[in-house]
Amino acid sequence: MKAVVYTRYGPPEILRLMDVDTPVPADDQVLVKVHAVGVNASDWEMLRGKPMYSRIGGPFRPRHHILGSDIAGRVALTGRNATAFRPGDDVFADILSFMGGFAEYVCVPQIALAPMPAHLTYEEAAALPQAGAIAWQGIRDKGQVQPGERVLINGGGGGSGMYAVQLAKLHGAEVTGVDNVEKLEFMRSLGADHVIDCAREDFTRVGRGYDLILDLAAYRPAFAYRRSLRPGGRYLYVGGSVATLLQVLLIGSLIGRAERKKIQLLAVRLGVEHLHPIVELSQQGKITTVIDRRFPLRQVSAALRYLGEGHAKGKVVVTVG
Ligand SMILES: NC(=O)c1ccc[n+]([C@@H]2O[C@H](COP(=O)([O-])OP(=O)(O)OC[C@H]3O[C@@H](n4cnc5c(N)ncnc54)[C@H](OP(=O)(O)O)[C@@H]3O)[C@@H](O)[C@H]2O)c1
Repeated sequence: MKAVVYTRYGPPEILRLMDVDTPVPADDQVLVKVHAVGVNASDWEMLRGKPMYSRIGGPFRPRHHILGSDIAGRVALTGRNATAFRPGDDVFADILSFMGGFAEYVCVPQIALAPMPAHLTYEEAAALPQAGAIAWQGIRDKGQVQPGERVLINGGGGGSGMYAVQLAKLHGAEVTGVDNVEKLEFMRSLGADHVIDCAREDFTRVGRGYDLILDLAAYRPAFAYRRSLRPGGRYLYVGGSVATLLQVLLIGSLIGRAERKKIQLLAVRLGVEHLHPIVELSQQGKITTVIDRRFPLRQVSAALRYLGEGHAKGKVVVTVG
């Protein structure tokens, strides 16, 4: 089969489209013919090995040689004990822990797979897993957004931000989206009440307080986030610099205590089993998936560069076959 392979950390140019052996499913696995793969910031980070947390499992060389974690496709073969699926079933999955999506076929433990919602295309189903899980848990499960609250989504024009802005609006919040200038109009189109160009304005310095900050691009000191929270407010770190992550982990719970401010990491529970509520909302037409650009498998490096250089408004998807 064809697959996009890398063996060392580096820029997108090191990716190679190659012929490799088609994987054979173990007893509890399913061989999926991949139709679409959602591109995530985590692919970009694991390609380059930056930030350092992306090297967990492979400090010097990548542990997995084929990136791509959010897949949608059709069951081609099933292992002996993988009886929940049959050849021909349309399925989707988040396979971040073992990757392998940028290929014509991938083996997936049946436990990680779910039937593809009938109302979604392969591309929409592939866009959903990681971004949908981050947004749902950031806004609802952990964020606990209430009507009338002020919510700021830093990185609101990217993949997770696209769902997070819509979810926060749906739950009655006043939403501010922060991202680069290319994405301001996009965030407005998703429903954001206010937008901030991150290059022109530092939202932590304008003196406006928020009840929830969902931070998809965290590069500031934890104290800066504390001063941007209203009393009782919550700050959730999703991705960004290791320095900020360490501060959040080490002093986050202490520095906001006096004003009942919570500064925490959002440790996202990944997996399509956590996506039911957001799938339902998309079925009801209350949440939309915006796919900015599609790239064929041979152009995975261009797809990653497009996302990594900050052009993607919503999701980028790689189509296979
Ligand atoms: N905590 C967890 O359990 C967990 C689980 C999975 C993934 N993640 C992490 O989640 C993060 C975000 O994922 P995503 O899929 O939403 O990424 P994404 O689609 O790349 O979106 C991130 C957005 O943030 C913007 N951005 C970058 N720097 C910014 C800044 N300084 N200020 C404001 N906006 C900025 C980006 O635009 P520009 O690049 O143009 O600026 C982009 O629009 C990744 O770092 C990933 O590793 C965390």
